[in-house]
Amino acid sequence: VPAAIPEALTAPLASIEDALERGLASLSLAKSLDEAIRYALLNGGKRVRPLLAWSACEALGVPGAASLPAGTAVELVHAFSLVHDDLPAMDDDELRRGRPTLHVYAGEAMAILAGDAMLSAAFDVLVRGAPTSELAARLIRELAGGAKGMICGQVYDTLGFSDERPDAERVEAIHRQKTGALIRAGCRMGAWCAIAERRGGSLPESDPPELGAITTYAEGVGLMFQIVDDLLDVEQTTELAGKRTGKDADADKLTWPGVFGVEESRKMVERLRNEAERAVVPLGERAAPLVSWASVLACRTA
Ligand code: IPE
Ligand code: IPE
Ligand code: MG
Ligand code: MG
Ligand code: MG
Repeated sequence: VPAAIPEALTAPLASIEDALERGLASLSLAKSLDEAIRYALLNGGKRVRPLLAWSACEALGVPGAASLPAGTAVELVHAFSLVHDDLPAMDDDELRRGRPTLHVYAGEAMAILAGDAMLSAAFDVLVRGAPTSELAARLIRELAGGAKGMICGQVYDTLGFSDERPDAERVEAIHRQKTGALIRAGCRMGAWCAIAERRGGSLPESDPPELGAITTYAEGVGLMFQIVDDLLDVEQTTELAGKRTGKDADADKLTWPGVFGVEESRKMVERLRNEAERAVVPLGERAAPLVSWASVLACRTA
């Protein structure tokens, strides 16, 4: 995490790491599987999704710790998505977070199985960690929707589309789904944790307007996050990114800079950052961390 990130934003990291560690320990998995998941989950991710869930929870006036089951679950799905994304049949990458990918470290079968296990563990964590079954059901629905979106996005990214449409539409659909869907789910789950906490555990009949603000924010940041990822693939070194860069063009991926150019991609990042920031203005001062996250993620270098 670069030094430029305000300390208040990363203060929840210790609690998040602890929750991930405890979540994994509580699963009582086969030893080799536990070790593989430990390798993929606990070493060096930025934890963007749980941090956003935390800040979304606080933006609705509830201490961020209430978001930890949500953050743990969404990070498990994210870690699963990376392990499978790197597989030889997918992006075929050998470096992740500055280390060999899981299939290089533990073999392809174990990487497939560890991904499967992380996806199902995420839902187990929600059922056991949410304070009420009503909230658990809501979080499960959000996460299932996020996982579905991510997987559909990966299908488009890897296998293409079955209909004709311009590249500009294609790349937006890919990015909103493969990356945006889980970021959206993480933010909304953090918000739901806050909404439930404020009402003593129960949920309202209809969606509160604050959820709409969080959703608009999350969709902007989610798309922006993948555009920045594409830009880093073009402009960043493998060493600093901790994963192989310059690979999207070789693999003939549909990317934002590939379709619109680097300059236009940078402008789009700025537009999306502004949109996201504007969306949470109605939430007031408590949304300041979300506003800061939008700029930090727009300018990130890894
Ligand atoms: C990488 O996600 C894959 C994308 C969805 C762009 P992150 O950049 O959040 O990866 P980690 O978890 O910090 O390694
Ligand atoms: C990641 O997209 C999307 C996922 C759902 C994991 P990329 O394939 O661009 O992510 P990196 O660059 O390998 O991290
Ligand atoms: Mg990929
Ligand atoms: Mg990849
Ligand atoms: Mg990438």
